[in-house]
Amino acid sequence: MRLILLGAPGAGKGTQATFICQKYGIPQISTGDMLRAAVKAGTPLGVQAKSVMESGGLVSDELIINLVKERISQADCANGFLFDGFPRTIPQADALKAAGVKLDYVLEIDVPFEAIINRMSGRRSHPASGRTYHVTFNPPKVEGLDDITGEPLIQRDDDKEETVKKRLEVYSAQTRPLVAYYSSWAKEDAASAPKYRAISGMGSVEEITARVFEALGH
Ligand code: AP5
Ligand code: ZN
Repeated sequence: MRLILLGAPGAGKGTQATFICQKYGIPQISTGDMLRAAVKAGTPLGVQAKSVMESGGLVSDELIINLVKERISQADCANGFLFDGFPRTIPQADALKAAGVKLDYVLEIDVPFEAIINRMSGRRSHPASGRTYHVTFNPPKVEGLDDITGEPLIQRDDDKEETVKKRLEVYSAQTRPLVAYYSSWAKEDAASAPKYRAISGMGSVEEITARVFEALGH
């Protein structure tokens, strides 16, 4: 299974990615998680990405495309993978197409912007695994600690309200055009395009997981 999870910041891509990857036994490729790891490690990529991420903007297409190409060439991607947060611009989608990467699905999770600000302000993350919680909607078993490792959870630097607003603007301008890109490709050339599915991301985490598997044909 090779798929893209498409959706605004806070739509629940990371949350649902965990269930999808478990079910199909595929790695989650979150460019956001990879960049945060690079920032933490202080690598040259991290140094370049840090201020852009804190401002809510996008890291350059060239850096991201190289990062993803390198990642999908690794052995654990041989049986498939899930892209979370990539592609995020038309040039990134074009690069993926040009590289001949065949995809089974593009799954869009749709959540209205009004709901997103609430979700972001209560988000808590376990950086090492990418597991994501919410203080009210999806709390960890023990407050402030990851369920699996017991390690402390953190709040992301880019979850401040004004940065979230900027990220939503950037999503509207640069990423939402991918909805039309993939849905029209699927209509025009069903044989080579990934199947396009869109689901509502409103409701409980469990309800959305059920919609996800319904959309992917189980
Ligand atoms: P990235 O890490 O990709 O962030 P994002 O797309 O903005 O998405 P989020 O991780 O914020 O949201 P999510 O959809 O994963 O939601 P989650 O499941 O956590 O990117 C960060 C930055 O890196 C970018 O701004 C950019 O600078 C850079 N970057 C990354 N990729 C790039 C690329 N390809 N090109 C250029 N730059 C790139 O859920 C959110 C919260 O809601 C959680 O608290 C969760 O518990 C809660 N929640 C989930 N589901 C529900 C539900 N059903 N009901 C209530 N609450 C819920
Ligand atoms: Zn995420």
